[in-house]
Amino acid sequence: MKVLVVGGGGREHALCWRLAQDPTVTRVLAAPGNAGIAQVADCFPAVAADDIDAIVHLVEERRDVDLTVVGPEVPLVAGLADELRRRRRRVFGPSAAAARIEGSKAFAKDVMARRGVPTARAGVFDDVREAVAFVDELGGAAVVKADGLAAGKGVLVAPDRETAVRAIEDCLIASAFGEAGRTVVVEEVLDGPEVSMFAVTDGEGSCVLLDTAQDHKRLGDGDTGPNTGGMGCYSPVPFVDQGTATWVLDNVLAQVVDELRPYRGVLYAGLMLTATGPKVLEFNCRFGDPEAEVLLPRMPYGVGTLLHACATGRLAYEAGNAGFDDGAAVTVVVASEGYPGSYPTGVPITGVEDALTHEGVTVFHAGTGRNRDGQLVTAGGRVLAVTGQGSSISEARDRAYRGVAEIHFDGMQFRSDIAAHAVEGART
Ligand code: AMP
Ligand code: GLY
Repeated sequence: MKVLVVGGGGREHALCWRLAQDPTVTRVLAAPGNAGIAQVADCFPAVAADDIDAIVHLVEERRDVDLTVVGPEVPLVAGLADELRRRRRRVFGPSAAAARIEGSKAFAKDVMARRGVPTARAGVFDDVREAVAFVDELGGAAVVKADGLAAGKGVLVAPDRETAVRAIEDCLIASAFGEAGRTVVVEEVLDGPEVSMFAVTDGEGSCVLLDTAQDHKRLGDGDTGPNTGGMGCYSPVPFVDQGTATWVLDNVLAQVVDELRPYRGVLYAGLMLTATGPKVLEFNCRFGDPEAEVLLPRMPYGVGTLLHACATGRLAYEAGNAGFDDGAAVTVVVASEGYPGSYPTGVPITGVEDALTHEGVTVFHAGTGRNRDGQLVTAGGRVLAVTGQGSSISEARDRAYRGVAEIHFDGMQFRSDIAAHAVEGART
């Protein structure tokens, strides 16, 4: 089969790389792709991931695309999967109605309430005075979230009333997040280690749990500095035992999948393991990034068959392709100078080939391109995700950093402590 992957980041490189290894996949296409994806797929750089019409046109034009796998949330929330299904095309990714679980935090709270999914106590507001009254009810500290999609930037954990009020005013009065922040969710501050959990599902009642991962969202070592889209990740998470994982599948992921049926794709729950049990922070309607860069390398070559089975309601027959190896994977994100703020592009990158000579190292491209001379250059905030695999988190971590040590570009920044706490047996 021929598979089109929509997107052009590290997650999509990991998807394309894994799909290209599936014996049932004869060709991988990517829109728009990037310089790394171009090594394993035919890229369509002029087709942006959120240009629904252009993607539908591409799939229609190429009658031989058997499956479209949608990487990012924006096209899903905008209805790409619906448009393709209307044309009888197979898609891995939920409908716009189901993708609202990520597209609206207020909607997600409502779904959780209906299904008894444990989550932070919250209120939904479009009025500043009412929102502030709820902050007072919570005791001053509060988490303020823009309701809509804000590229991971719409959440502020406010330690005190003053900061919470400012965040509410930023959304509701100053329109800091535009339309996405016209409604805010205000919720209690939870405490505990965070874990990302995923289920793939086919809309026909089958729901299969994938392994766990833990992201590092803050820019600096020791979880300092601003929030980012993710500076590194590891899998599996040693402190999530089988009992907890099964509990989350039954009481969180399967509940939401059923409420949103038919849900065809991957449902991602961001959870906090609090003293009173796991609680949901957020849902996403897609694979995580950089979670995909540690999950997919640990999965078997049959990932294409698995995603196809989700798109066609046959997951029950192909669940074996959702297995994970017994080892571990760690990915370290190498970012541009200035990220997560503004950053330069076109900066020459060296050392990727050298990194790949190390055992157990894979380099996923997140934001790369080629200049006129054909040299690899930066083209985004997150530039590379260097993944190490090994028999333990410690070995995987050493390998990832051996890969990173080979890579250079001006102003590059990365965390030096990805997965360090997991090696030491701590939870965060
Ligand atoms: P979200 O986009 O909802 O996952 O939020 C981004 C980050 O904000 C999460 O990864 C958490 O670190 C933090 N966060 C979100 N909700 C809460 C909460 N209720 N309590 C504490 N931290 C939170
Ligand atoms: N790693 C966080 C996300 O993909 O949303």
